[in-house]
Amino acid sequence: MPMHDVKISPAQAAELRRLNASRPVKVLAVTAGKGGVGKTTVSANLAVSIAAQGRDVMLVDADFGLANVDVLLGLHTRFHLGHVLSGECSLEDAIVTGPHGLQIVPAASGIRRMANLSPLEHAGLIRAFSDLYHRVDVLVVDTAAGLHDSVVTFNQAAHHVIVVVCDEPASITDAYALIKVMSREHGVRRFQILANQTRRADEGPRLFEKIQRVCDRFLDVALEFAGSIPFDDYLRRAVQRQTAVVEAYPQSISSVALKDLASRADKWTVPQGARGHLEFFVERMVGAQIGPAAVLQ
Ligand SMILES: Nc1ncnc2c1ncn2[C@@H]1O[C@H](COP(=O)(O)OP(=O)(O)OP(=O)(O)O)[C@@H](O)[C@H]1O
Ligand SMILES: [Mg+2]
Repeated sequence: MPMHDVKISPAQAAELRRLNASRPVKVLAVTAGKGGVGKTTVSANLAVSIAAQGRDVMLVDADFGLANVDVLLGLHTRFHLGHVLSGECSLEDAIVTGPHGLQIVPAASGIRRMANLSPLEHAGLIRAFSDLYHRVDVLVVDTAAGLHDSVVTFNQAAHHVIVVVCDEPASITDAYALIKVMSREHGVRRFQILANQTRRADEGPRLFEKIQRVCDRFLDVALEFAGSIPFDDYLRRAVQRQTAVVEAYPQSISSVALKDLASRADKWTVPQGARGHLEFFVERMVGAQIGPAAVLQ
């Protein structure tokens, strides 16, 4: 039975929060400069695969403009973050359970307001996370495309930012623009570049080299190649079935690559004290009691 279906006493909840506060949570943000490159596909399958490896994983749908993690995974949601923000429910109530105990926090589908949260609402949202008592080892965040405030906030808060790119000019230039702004204006200097929808074995490494060359020339950043996810018709079939491809077609080429990415991501470390208060905050996003002032300075 998922934890949020179990009634626990306030004292037990407080104890769980206290225990969680001392546990490191690894935060992975999946982002892109451009829409439609595969962020949701990657974050959902990555989260399911890491959960299948026995970790406690939470997937946050932070694409407030157009939510679709729940649709992709065929889950029925009653509440979403909009209800949490308006105080209609707690974050615990909004969480739904996916494959392998994966905990999913659905975003507010299609509600424009969610795409433009005020700083106060942002803080409220983050405080809602700090009140959680779920056990979490890895937090995967599916961000919106581009450079909205929420994208910047979540990328800045993550320990590892995975930038999804496709081999098309707009995807590459937009990824570069995202890396430029995140590094110059928000102090994020390390990025994992993930090539998606590749059609040849050398496409991913070439794409990475292309981005690295231009970044090396103009920016002070460290890029790592996170690998390639091949273009795969089975992935599209899985979308039709509203199931993660790693569950529906575990032997397909995209599943093998996604599970491989999950194994590698599971070994990525949480850098110690790398990026100031926001990172510190999100490291303890689940369980810690930290006020909004710490986040919004
Ligand atoms: N490796 C792949 N092989 C085949 N199709 C893929 C692959 N990755 C993603 N797709 C397809 O590309 C489309 C866009 O994917 P997805 O919704 O994950 O992108 P997104 O970046 O989250 O988009 P948005 O910016 O709208 O949130 C979907 O139809 C998805 O099924
Ligand atoms: Mg998406």
